[in-house]
Amino acid sequence: MNKHTIRLHPLGKEIQVNDQTPLIDVLHEFGIEFPCGGKGTCGKCKVRLLDGEIETTEIHGKRKEQLGLSNDWRLACFSSCTGDITLEIEQFNHLILADESEFDFSPQPGFGIAVDLGTTTVVAQLVDLSSAKVLAVETLLNPQIRFGADLISRIQACLDGHSTEMTQKIRSAIGIMIVLMLKKHPVELQKVVLVGNSVMQLIFGNCDVSPLSMYPFHNENLGLKTFLPEDLDWNFQVNQSIQFFPSIGSFVGSDILAGIAATGLHRKENYTALIDLGTNGEIVLGNQNQIVCASTAAGPAFEGANISMGMRAVTGAISSLSLVDGKIEACVIGNSTAKGICGSALIDAVSILRKLDLIGMFGEINSGEVQIHLTEKVFLTQKDINEFQLAKAAIAAGLTILAGKLEIQISEIQEVYIAGGFGNYINIGNLVAAGMIELPEEKIHKMGNTALIGAKIFLFSGAELTDEILLKTRHINLEGDPNFQDIYVDKMLF
Ligand code: FES
Repeated sequence: MNKHTIRLHPLGKEIQVNDQTPLIDVLHEFGIEFPCGGKGTCGKCKVRLLDGEIETTEIHGKRKEQLGLSNDWRLACFSSCTGDITLEIEQFNHLILADESEFDFSPQPGFGIAVDLGTTTVVAQLVDLSSAKVLAVETLLNPQIRFGADLISRIQACLDGHSTEMTQKIRSAIGIMIVLMLKKHPVELQKVVLVGNSVMQLIFGNCDVSPLSMYPFHNENLGLKTFLPEDLDWNFQVNQSIQFFPSIGSFVGSDILAGIAATGLHRKENYTALIDLGTNGEIVLGNQNQIVCASTAAGPAFEGANISMGMRAVTGAISSLSLVDGKIEACVIGNSTAKGICGSALIDAVSILRKLDLIGMFGEINSGEVQIHLTEKVFLTQKDINEFQLAKAAIAAGLTILAGKLEIQISEIQEVYIAGGFGNYINIGNLVAAGMIELPEEKIHKMGNTALIGAKIFLFSGAELTDEILLKTRHINLEGDPNFQDIYVDKMLF
């Protein structure tokens, strides 16, 4: 019998099934729920078809229409596998961090769209500019993900000739997100503001990313980019502007510029830090007088890469661990069986294992064994702990070097904001205990999706605010600092 492969994003799993296998038979194992039992009324089993074909029957099409699902969605309960397919599982979307924070604004007439274009996820919000109220939200897994999870693989895919395809995919995906929001709220748009890291900005703008692939990683093309709807093949009107906001440096994008605006760091008297623990970890430190920022290689471990049982914060991932009566207890996303561990729980794990004296100050497993079990099936290996040390050292060393550039001590930092989807699930106490941020817990706050908050602020502020921030901000190449290696090695210790 014919076999087909089903690839599941963002789980990164592949399964082999027989021809005509109903998806309901295989997907429940991966945490997909079927609350209405396959009647096609709840829509909870929806999956997005990223690649391949799934025929829709008349009734399937009708149910999708009733549920307001666009062409790329399928109801798993009505679908069978007849060829190789790639699916994005819907449950993941619940975990993409949108935002409803309040911020200061001057009311304006009309409506705008704020977009946070991340390497992994995309979030868009439709905003009433007279009240700053969010009318609709759309979230999406970045369709470029099939070209690799991190920035380096996206750059490589561009160099391999996929640049135009990736540009078209992301422009079209964001266009669809906006159309879906406009369907629910048929309003006239004044502005669209996009923010994202520098690679996302270049790919969206159809610009050459190759300068970011080699030393000195300099790119002249990271300024504000303005588009017309027809440039992007968007079939709706935008009265004033569509703008992708400028990056700060080669690997510090407008998502961080937006983060600075969201925290108000550029107007604070006290030294304040912003740390984004996304796919690539960026650090900002400064106050109303001067700001320095840098990118670090901290992200991959927290995104599940290089960790033997690591995975993103999706169904089946352990999202947090705690010590109850001397025993490790796990909280698993989607209430399913633990299949792996995501970034926030990795920090918990290391902190708990240190507390239990199961790992030593060099990161060594004290028992001499090669792995430590966290649950019956999920474990960390010696190599995983070392990967964590590299990531935590990158953040701790980055902050130390930036403080040095401002000629201040780490202890002079009054507040630290943790940003990013993953940042929101972190246990701050464990973050400190694991030695990632060498400051008291009270100074550290989770701030959610600062890129999206900042993008909304930009809908109201225009260029003056970005100019104000950019004028004060210096991009620092951490590896270029003569003390980097020594500090980095030192920060690897617990
Ligand atoms: S299980 Fe409810 S729509 Fe598929």
